[in-house]
This record gives sequence, C-alpha cells and structure tokens, in this order.
Amino acid sequence: MTITRFVLNEQSKRPESRGDFTILLSHIVLGCKFVCSAVNKAGLAKLIGLAGETNIQGEEQKKLDVLSNDVFIKALISSGRTCILVSEEDEEATFVEPSLRGKYCVVFDPLDGSSNIDCGVSIGTIFGIYMVKDNHAPTLDDVLQPGKNMLAAGYCMYGSSCTLVLSTGSGVNGFTLDPSLGEFILTHPDIKIPKKGKIYSVNEGNAKNWDGPTTKYVEKCKFPTDGSSPKSLRYIGSMVADVHRTLLYGGIFLYPADKKSPNGKLRVLYEVFPMSFLMEQAGGQSFTGKQRALDLIPTKIHERSPIFLGSYDDVEEIKALYAAEQKNA
Ligand code: AHG
Ligand code: MN
Ligand code: MN
Ligand code: MN
Repeated sequence: MTITRFVLNEQSKRPESRGDFTILLSHIVLGCKFVCSAVNKAGLAKLIGLAGETNIQGEEQKKLDVLSNDVFIKALISSGRTCILVSEEDEEATFVEPSLRGKYCVVFDPLDGSSNIDCGVSIGTIFGIYMVKDNHAPTLDDVLQPGKNMLAAGYCMYGSSCTLVLSTGSGVNGFTLDPSLGEFILTHPDIKIPKKGKIYSVNEGNAKNWDGPTTKYVEKCKFPTDGSSPKSLRYIGSMVADVHRTLLYGGIFLYPADKKSPNGKLRVLYEVFPMSFLMEQAGGQSFTGKQRALDLIPTKIHERSPIFLGSYDDVEEIKALYAAEQKNA
C-alpha cells in the first residue's frame, strides 16, 4: 500500500473531493523525497554548515534550511493547488500567482531540528494544510485559523529511515520510504499513542526559568509521590524526532514558557498545530498551559506558544497543575 494509493482510497470516501488534495499531497511527498536524499548526502555534498543568512526567527540559516525551503516552495506552487504558503524560513507569507492558484493553504517547517544537521541526528519536515476560508482573493486570515480547522497535518522524519506520518482527519498512519521503489509504503497503520507513558521529554537546561506548574510537573516525573517509578528523560532536540518517539512509545513532550521566552519557543502554525493535530488524532492531547492547543487563534504567522503534548493521562496531569495555579491565583 503506497501513500498515494492510501490517500486516494481515503479521498474516495469524500464525495466532494476531486483529486486536488491527492495532487497537493503528491507534491509534498515529492518535496520530502528530495529533502531526504539531500539530507542523506549532506555530509558528502558539503551541504552541512551555515548558509550565511539569518531568518526571521533570528536563527542562522543552515544550507539545508534554505535548500529545503526552496524545494517545498517550488513543489507546492507547481502543484497548482495552493494559494498561500507560510514557511518558518520566510518572513512573509507567499501568495501564489492567480494562474497557479488552488484552494489550499500550506504552513510548513521545511527543516526541523536544524541544530542537529551537522552531527547527523534525525531531523524532519513538518506541515499543515488549511482550506481557504472562501473563494475571494486570499488574505492572511486564510492561514490565521485555529489548528482545529486544519484538514491534514504530518511530518517526515529523516533518520535511519525516512518516515512520513500523516493524518487527514481520520486517524494517523505512518509510511516508510522504500528507496529501491522510491515510494512511501504503509508501515504503521492506525497509530494510537499509549494512554500513559514512562518518558518525559524537555530541555532541562531551561529549568531555572520555568514557572511553578512546569517545575512541579517535572519534579513529579523525577520524584513520583505515588510509589510509581520515575519517568525516563529522552530529549533529542529535534521536535519531529521527540514527537515521533512520543507518538509510538507514549509519554509527554513539553516546550514550556519560561522567563526568557514567555510564549515558549515553538511556532504555532507549523510546529505546534500539526503535532497537536496528530496527537489528538492518535488519541493523545495537546495543551498550551492555558487551553487546548488546537483552539488557539494565531494573530501572526510566526507566533509562538508553550506546548505540552503526548499521552492523554500524562497531559491531564500537567493540566491539573495549571488549573490549580489558576485557582490559587
Ligand atoms: P527548527 O530547527 O525548525 O528551528 O526547530 C527547532 C526546535 C525544535 O525542533 C526543537 O524541539 C527545539 O527547537 C529545540 O529547542 P532547544 O534547543 O531550545 O531545546
Ligand atoms: Mn529554525
Ligand atoms: Mn522546527
Ligand atoms: Mn526549521
């Protein structure tokens, strides 16, 4: 079962679909295949290291950041199915010219985990897909929608194998690239995240700046008071890899707010929303410290939010701690 056949099957259940989504997805898949091959030969092809530019996030762009961004922008525009593109690497949104314009808005992080490129640790691409709100000329409002309006979301992880995890709103499925075929094959059908996990995933280096509930929660992970054994800490530093492990093994991934960054670090449109969409579709949940992540309504395309996502029961615990703080406030 290839990803194209899988999506065609799914779309055939939607009477209104005319193949546009499948065409869009096939172009995203093409982009992933291209980036996968570039990542695999990055070390040899001198594709590692800095590009000599800085992006809107104030981050030094790596050569692969720039290459991946170019690939996805070109692939998405040439699909003829998109009208607005938002990328982590571009300050402004891209409005597709009318002759190539379609009805989908795509928000994406072309290369997630850039700090891990040069040492060969897993990195990835994250994407989310909205439908334009209505068919007059597209505006930024068409992408400043709550995450719950996304039609689809997914990521591709470039690691020991190239794995694409996708949800189009009816569950989560994982596909692995068979390099000999050049096709993504269904390898992880109907992924469901364990209800509770034994792993917590956070950058403990920020502990000095965390707020009360986060500090209490991590303390509980390390020194449980209910007689259970402490959770293990696993933190890779690429959101795609940390989320992929959380999805398959269970547990919780958190990038909390801290005194230095009151909105946390991760970007709402193309990191928080797609990963939250996948978590909910897999039976988990995703919380910002104040609300369900998918209910957030972004006002800027590079807006950030704190995020706590993963196993349903684990996220419930952090929600209870924030609720208790609210009550005592
Ligand atoms: P990106 O490489 O796309 O800028 O994203 C990096 C993000 C995310 O992948 C990861 O979870 C987080 O940065 C790690 O941040 P710290 O190094 O501050 O822990
Ligand atoms: Mn970045
Ligand atoms: Mn990222
Ligand atoms: Mn990135």
